[in-house]
Amino acid sequence: MRFPEAYFVTGFVAIFFPSLAVLAAQNFDVPWSSKRYGPDGPWQAVMITLGGHNSTETIQAQNHSDIDVYPGGYWQIYSLASAACEPFPSSICGNGGFWEPDTDDLSQLYSIAEPFVVDDPAYGLNITKSTRTYMATTIGGKIIYNSSQAFVESASMRYPSGKIGGVTLGALALGADSPNQFFSLDANIQGNGINTSTFSGGLYLKGDIPSYSFGLHIGSAAFNYPGSLVFGGYNKGRVIDPVTSFQDVNTVDLLDIGIGVEDGESPFSFAKKSNLFLDSSGQSQRRNVTIEPLNPYLALPKKTCDGLADILPVTFDKSLDYYTWNLKDPKYEQIVTSAAYLSFTFLPPPGSSDNVIIKVPFALLNLTLSQPITATPTQYFPCVPFDSTTKPPVLGRSFLQAAFFGRNWNTGYSWLAQAPGPGAGVSAHGLGDARTDIANDATIVEGYQNKDGSNLFNQSWAGHWSVASVPTVSNIPTASPSVVPPPHRLSTGAKAGIGISAAIGTISILAAAFLLWRRRNKTGIRSSSSAEQDVKMPQRGYEGHAADLPEVVGPKYAHVGHAPAIFEADNHHYPTEIADTNDPRLR
Ligand SMILES: *[C@@H]1O[C@H](CO)[C@@H](O)[C@H](O)[C@H]1NC(C)=O
Ligand SMILES: *[C@@H]1O[C@H](CO)[C@@H](O)[C@H](O)[C@H]1NC(C)=O
Ligand SMILES: *[C@@H]1O[C@H](CO)[C@@H](O)[C@H](O)[C@H]1NC(C)=O
Ligand SMILES: *[C@@H]1O[C@H](CO)[C@@H](O)[C@H](O)[C@H]1NC(C)=O
Ligand SMILES: *[C@@H]1O[C@H](CO)[C@@H](O)[C@H](O)[C@H]1NC(C)=O
Ligand SMILES: *[C@@H]1O[C@H](CO)[C@@H](O)[C@H](O)[C@H]1NC(C)=O
Ligand SMILES: *[C@@H]1O[C@H](CO)[C@@H](O)[C@H](O)[C@H]1NC(C)=O
Ligand SMILES: *[C@@H]1O[C@H](CO)[C@@H](O)[C@H](O)[C@H]1NC(C)=O
Repeated sequence: MRFPEAYFVTGFVAIFFPSLAVLAAQNFDVPWSSKRYGPDGPWQAVMITLGGHNSTETIQAQNHSDIDVYPGGYWQIYSLASAACEPFPSSICGNGGFWEPDTDDLSQLYSIAEPFVVDDPAYGLNITKSTRTYMATTIGGKIIYNSSQAFVESASMRYPSGKIGGVTLGALALGADSPNQFFSLDANIQGNGINTSTFSGGLYLKGDIPSYSFGLHIGSAAFNYPGSLVFGGYNKGRVIDPVTSFQDVNTVDLLDIGIGVEDGESPFSFAKKSNLFLDSSGQSQRRNVTIEPLNPYLALPKKTCDGLADILPVTFDKSLDYYTWNLKDPKYEQIVTSAAYLSFTFLPPPGSSDNVIIKVPFALLNLTLSQPITATPTQYFPCVPFDSTTKPPVLGRSFLQAAFFGRNWNTGYSWLAQAPGPGAGVSAHGLGDARTDIANDATIVEGYQNKDGSNLFNQSWAGHWSVASVPTVSNIPTASPSVVPPPHRLSTGAKAGIGISAAIGTISILAAAFLLWRRRNKTGIRSSSSAEQDVKMPQRGYEGHAADLPEVVGPKYAHVGHAPAIFEADNHHYPTEIADTNDPRLR
């Protein structure tokens, strides 16, 4: 494995040009919590701090809260207020922590209560009251003031059987088409209002990250494989080539679903099976699906789930409406400990004719239901029947345990690729850490390539699945700690700068040039008012009564694309849709 040149450059700069290292935008790694969340996981979450609006004081000195949230959703960050869990005492409701701005703080800000926010039938999230604010969000020591937030005061989860429970965690938005979200204070005066940003949009506008982008891998709590969320870059150690790309935020053409075995004997009566993505009449289909990190399931047509259930030792439990694994069937243990996988086939990457196949080992699909869904822990297979005439099937967190998902908001390209398995151990998860910047104009990202007969997917799982009579060889090329890059790396922009500086010999000229370069590049993003979100917020202070509060007004300046919001309201019920746009994202 060759050392990427940038790792050496970092050391060089740190010694000779320490000031540059500060100026250079570099990708930002979001820290993950060590806690595990249910009731359909276990799942991992990221750690954020909400609160604070006075930039002359520290966040610690102001009212704030450290909470865990799921990575996912667009535009505002969602958090739970304790009121949201009052109907669900002594439950997992709010286990990620609560945040409710102090009324004194809120009285100094504009805020807007939304009586109806989210109803996602694909996994049952139902948010009925939330308040939008724009306080600071702090992650890993980085503070973005005026970041777009909503705290939720009434919400529930509707499990497939119809059973209702509380919401466990809020959500950290992955960005949005624009880094800014504008709250209008006077519909008649354009520009009179509050300019908020998404967290990553704020980092980008400050020049802290090289592009307005993200790279996400959910990892696996059960395998102690931490997740990875990077803004302005991605962890290449979580990506195996080829990488498929698509231009919708999260809608991708799923060509097929299949079953296969990577190594050793098949626990099935066949070696391989395809055409398992069935439509509601039982025909094999190709169809757009949504990639949704907030949905725990594979929310697929009932016929697809039933077809898989015919092959697997699972039973559709009619009281739970989940497929549970038949623990007593010897095939159960064989399958979930073997190298067998469920595969998902996507279109080839640019310039290739080979489809991209993402394999999700059944080992990752041995998930656990717990309270309030079941009284005692119950192993389930996360295919959940979802036949909607208006919403596509969803590949959620279960899928994203084995897949990399990323997007560059500037160029409008999203990516999916095979993520590796847990890897060799604690110091070398996956293929090792190789955080890499995403350039502002990037339309593709690179993963590690299988070459000379290597099979990185197979190798990264070696030792985690049992393969009878096949010796396990651990030969993961990047797993050696010696190639794990130092945490602070330089972006391409900074590298270019180093060359120039050697010639000119003055750091200040370089720094000025670099700032100009950045500024010029930044204009590339669709951050002009035409792409901003415009939310009417004429009411000063927090009233606490949703019914009295004004409606949100949709984007006013222009149509801003067709990205669906996660935590999205139902188009038809949301009261604030305006006539000149189809954009559903102000939810
Ligand atoms: C911010 O904090 C400083 C220092 O405590 C204080 O002097 C100032 O009045 C505060 N600003 C606002 C808008 O509350
Ligand atoms: C936090 O909020 C409480 C009221 O909930 C208030 O009494 C206190 O002064 C606030 N603390 C800070 C540091 O602002
Ligand atoms: C969402 O919750 C509200 C309030 O509890 C309830 O009236 C509504 O029926 C729920 N929606 C769905 C689709 O369950
Ligand atoms: C909001 O802020 C962004 C970046 O700081 C700026 O480009 C934009 O013009 C602002 N929008 C308004 C309406 O003030
Ligand atoms: C947040 O937005 C308000 C209203 O636009 C502005 O007055 C304030 O300076 C902003 N705060 C920071 C820290 O940028
Ligand atoms: C799939 O989605 C893309 C855009 O996201 C759209 O252009 C295409 O028509 C969709 N295909 C189907 C079959 O709906
Ligand atoms: C399935 O998952 C549970 C919970 O993580 C674990 O205890 C069990 O060992 C797994 N089953 C097999 C056969 O690996
Ligand atoms: C997977 O790796 C094992 C060694 O760990 C090897 O024997 C096997 O052939 C590999 N399978 C494939 C499909 O590469």
